[in-house]
Amino acid sequence: MILLNRGFMERDDAIVDIEDRGYQFGDGVYELIRVYDGVCFEMEGHVQRLKLSSLKIELALPYPLEDIARNLKQLVEKNGLLNGYIYVQITRGVAQRVHHFPGSVSSVLVAYVQHAERPVEKTKHGIHAILTEDIRWKRCDIKSLNLLPNVLAKQLAKKHGCDEAIMHRGSTVSEGSSTNVYIVERNVIYTHPINNLILNGITRIGVLQMARENGFRVVEEAFTVNELLETDEVFVTSTALEICPVIQIDHTLIGNGKPGLVTRTFQQAFEHRIAFNSGIN
Ligand code: PDD
Repeated sequence: MILLNRGFMERDDAIVDIEDRGYQFGDGVYELIRVYDGVCFEMEGHVQRLKLSSLKIELALPYPLEDIARNLKQLVEKNGLLNGYIYVQITRGVAQRVHHFPGSVSSVLVAYVQHAERPVEKTKHGIHAILTEDIRWKRCDIKSLNLLPNVLAKQLAKKHGCDEAIMHRGSTVSEGSSTNVYIVERNVIYTHPINNLILNGITRIGVLQMARENGFRVVEEAFTVNELLETDEVFVTSTALEICPVIQIDHTLIGNGKPGLVTRTFQQAFEHRIAFNSGIN
């Protein structure tokens, strides 16, 4: 079953118009929400960010946020999903093709679920990443459907046998193609500050909270490519990759080339969060 606006239906019965502005312009926003043991993880954070992204592109939600959250939970139930994702997107809707906002148009919400195992191998052993210039626009805070630069960066990573592309604007590291990036230097956690140049990751919010709760100093300041390559530990976070060590970047081993102890500490704390979340049902 999928969700189209307020209606639940079979995927084959859902129709998306060829003039949907999401399809033609990437004129829309999205979220990817994790489901662990049948329970949505950080649902409130995700729907609030969906609302904020919509607001930033002057896109009216098709119906109230509380109803959207309720329908997404129902979608999980109707599909009997235990572990995986909800993908939800809202586009500006269907109208004859003009660049500016069309006069009367109703936004279109589409959501579906997908089974997915947790990324255990990657989070256990760590991943390799490449470095690439961040060629995106200056509103990376909006979780918009326009992902072409991210797609190209990830493809480049894949071509090099890597799992992530860490992007930088000049010498400043911004974020991964689909993750936030952190370095650990003498037990201090550094990560890019929240502004228009990165996405305010929901996993990032949780990880920084856990870091502070565990007595670590968190510095939300940008770091350079050199600092990234010379640091003790690097890890990335996202809904899909959770908290994942980065053990090699281009040809440089990070630390001793093994997942770091601080990263391991956060991974353990993250397990508690998931277990706690699964208890709320
Ligand atoms: N991507 N930065 C970018 C550019 C992202 O696309 C994502 C998430 C993140 C991490 O955000 P969060 O912790 O809220 O997942 C940071 C999702 C997973 C995706 O597009 O598949």
